[in-house]
Amino acid sequence: MIVKVLLVTLTVTACVAVPSNIVRPCNVKDNKCVRDNFAPNSRCNPNVRGFIPGQYTIKQFRFEAPYFNATYIDNNLIISNHNNCFVSEFFFNLGSDVGVLTLDCPSLVLESSRTLIQHASFKEDTAYSFNYKGTYPLVRLTVNLPHANQLDLCSAYTFADVTALPIFNVNPNDQKTANFLSTDLTLMNIYEREAFFYRANQLARYYINSMICDFGCNF
Ligand SMILES: *[C@@H]1O[C@H](CO)[C@@H](O)[C@H](O)[C@H]1NC(C)=O
Repeated sequence: MIVKVLLVTLTVTACVAVPSNIVRPCNVKDNKCVRDNFAPNSRCNPNVRGFIPGQYTIKQFRFEAPYFNATYIDNNLIISNHNNCFVSEFFFNLGSDVGVLTLDCPSLVLESSRTLIQHASFKEDTAYSFNYKGTYPLVRLTVNLPHANQLDLCSAYTFADVTALPIFNVNPNDQKTANFLSTDLTLMNIYEREAFFYRANQLARYYINSMICDFGCNF
């Protein structure tokens, strides 16, 4: 009797279940499989470089921190461990015609000689200077690619999730900067979210174009 009831329940569940529109064609971390899915559905070049240096330098990288009324300029920005990123999610939604790709980037290190430009109403900007080195335990980058058969990374939005605050080191280059720099870190999560809003495309595109399929845009 119990078996019968169970069987009936199972049958009913199977009939009610709606077929899923979510298709996961690849094992995560299988860059070749992602490439084989991207290439026929976009204009990307599947002949990728195949590696990212363990450490590389960007001459200058500017970003904004609107909440703090500030502009930041990273001079000689050294990025390390970008090569450790890996695909942690990849699916197509056949219903909405969207492809979604997530990269997990563990232990990302950013190091630069940083200029902070503080803005204020009716005032001339004030510039500060310090050296910065931050190790980010896990930065997660999610790209939504509309039009699953005409994917274009270069116009897609990248969402950066700074899942944990960095372990960081700051060395002011002058007394003025030392006096200015806040030791109050309660708003640091806002600052990191704003900063990575600007870094997201560079991080995702450089990785995808080097390792998966080259869409021809780096920033
Ligand atoms: C940014 O500027 C506005 C307008 O002056 C001010 O109200 C706000 O407190 C400033 N933000 C920070 C984080 O200092």
